[in-house]
Amino acid sequence: MQPTNQPADAGGARAAGAARSGTGAGTRAGTATAGPARSARPAEAAAEQSSALVLHVNGTAYELTLDHRTTVLDVLREHLGLTGAKKGCDHGQCGACTVLVDGRRANSCLLLAVAQDGRHITTIEGLAHGERLHPLQEAFVERDALQCGYCTPGQICSAVGVLQEAADGFPSHVTPADAPQGGPVQLTVEEIRERMSGNLCRCGAYPRIVEAVHDVSTDQGMAS
Ligand code: FES
Ligand code: FES
Repeated sequence: MQPTNQPADAGGARAAGAARSGTGAGTRAGTATAGPARSARPAEAAAEQSSALVLHVNGTAYELTLDHRTTVLDVLREHLGLTGAKKGCDHGQCGACTVLVDGRRANSCLLLAVAQDGRHITTIEGLAHGERLHPLQEAFVERDALQCGYCTPGQICSAVGVLQEAADGFPSHVTPADAPQGGPVQLTVEEIRERMSGNLCRCGAYPRIVEAVHDVSTDQGMAS
């Protein structure tokens, strides 16, 4: 059974989120006019706009109460202090925020946290086993597949998803029509480029990123 943590910052984070959105109790209390009838409304409004939920992040269960508009990316970075996933565009365009949700990659900036209640999220911080890096992390280092590193956590989480999708037989846009159905998809360089195309790198480290993913897929007997 997973340990259950209620982070000490849950209340503070909720207040911070409310302050950002300008709709929380703290914010409204500061602007409400005096009077007992009016003072009760902000708290009621804040309660209506928040929900309690549990997110399992990197093996730890977090009980959170969140404004309904809070994204998973903001939960990770601002409430849980997991800053590996990056906010590049905040619009689902760059992939810098990629994490794994129940084993499938997703842009966390597009996910509302309240819709992920009970799900298991893995971030770049959760890939290593103690001091031992994930094979993709090692491959990125060995191939020097980064420059500034801003996109790298998303690239690596996305690559973890790619390997699993290929192993599970999910075809891509470039998978040959006559490829065997249902079996693992061989990850050619073309397949890796296509499947990683949602993760942008402003530094242009693409050639080495592809090499790193290909190295690991080769080690796993999935490359051709
Ligand atoms: S920050 Fe999520 S896709 Fe760019
Ligand atoms: S390494 Fe700089 S954005 Fe990719």
